[in-house]
Amino acid sequence: MCYYNKVYKSQIKIGKMRGAAVIMLHRLTLANFRNYAALDAEFAPRLTIVSGANGQGKTNLLEACYLAATGRSHRGSRDREMIRFGESDAVLRAEIEFDNREITHELRLSNTGRRVNIRNGSKLRRADAFAETLSAVMFTPDDLNLVRGGADERRRLLDRCISQLRPRYAEALAEHTRLYAHKTRVLRGWRENSGLLDALPEFNNALIDADARLIFYRASFVRKLAERARVLHADCSHGTEELALTYKTVRGADTENPDRAVIAHALRERSRELYDAELASGQCLVGARRDDIEIAINGTEARKYASQGQARTAALAVKLAEREIMADELGRAPLLLLDDVLSELDEARREFVLTRSSGGQVVISTCVLGETPPNTRIIEIQNGGIARCIIT
Ligand SMILES: Nc1ncnc2c1ncn2[C@@H]1O[C@H](COP(=O)(O)OP(=O)(O)OP(=O)(O)O)[C@@H](O)[C@H]1O
Ligand SMILES: [Mg+2]
Repeated sequence: MCYYNKVYKSQIKIGKMRGAAVIMLHRLTLANFRNYAALDAEFAPRLTIVSGANGQGKTNLLEACYLAATGRSHRGSRDREMIRFGESDAVLRAEIEFDNREITHELRLSNTGRRVNIRNGSKLRRADAFAETLSAVMFTPDDLNLVRGGADERRRLLDRCISQLRPRYAEALAEHTRLYAHKTRVLRGWRENSGLLDALPEFNNALIDADARLIFYRASFVRKLAERARVLHADCSHGTEELALTYKTVRGADTENPDRAVIAHALRERSRELYDAELASGQCLVGARRDDIEIAINGTEARKYASQGQARTAALAVKLAEREIMADELGRAPLLLLDDVLSELDEARREFVLTRSSGGQVVISTCVLGETPPNTRIIEIQNGGIARCIIT
């Protein structure tokens, strides 16, 4: 207990961001959501641990928190799948403290697919508007793919994060997707219809312009992400490991000092070099769609060589870094949902996650309840209900 008291105090210090607004999920009530017929759960201002055996509903409860905050499921589930088997509707209600005001989010899910999203009694046109009053970042065991998986996993992270923070990025991404489809159609079809080639220079130029914008934003985002993830990873591994993220993009684009004109020039050069190869292969070989983030721990490529616990630490550091960037931009820390993150971590890394992982509000699910810091709310879940609830 004493040990945790000491570390917990340091967390409180870190947790107080200057000028940050207080936003907190107080209570969540569920009706016919997943395996919950009815649930009424309260959350601690800092740390809540959702414990229980396999298959009892821990991930479902975290999913409900994420849904109430962002308007969508972290696993991309449809409403129909989240309604309790055999029922036709589900209701989620979240009570939130937002800068000394009480805010309620209510989501009515129906198996017709028609959703009603309500904030403080008023219908919202878009579910993602919930994020204005409660945002969340979720970490699940699948996020290990950030380290172990292919480049598309890491590009997805970039696209998701930067789109949320920069509407211009989302526009460039939509433009990229449209033009990429056109260019691919030309590259695949020119042998049958050589007239298609007439349109290629125009698509190419427009795609280079969209990609230069994407690469410009990505370069500065990865720089911020790398710096924060490096510190978090070092902290979590108690200084034994150094995490390095390096943005890999088109040759000749200076990612340290990104400049759109320089990036566009590099893309144009590369495009010229690979023109014949693109025609021969029928594929786009240049551009933002080939970007990646190289992840190394102590100088070795994490994707190939990191142990399970090291890879998990690196993925967690990246997610926590994402949350810190969002906190800076939004002026408030998003609710942090950590699903099953403690398994595979050694004692020292578990302690980091439980006490110093981040400021703001945190909900962690776990099968094995170890030593717990004070003022933690522990919700023990059994078969879609609360078996026990204690505050340490
Ligand atoms: N729409 C639904 N209606 C009823 N039950 C569902 C629905 N969707 C999922 N379930 C059930 O919810 C149960 C609990 O799932 P959940 O993933 O939350 O468990 P968990 O406590 O996180 O387990 P683990 O420790 O293995 O991760 C599963 O047995 C699953 O079949
Ligand atoms: Mg689970």
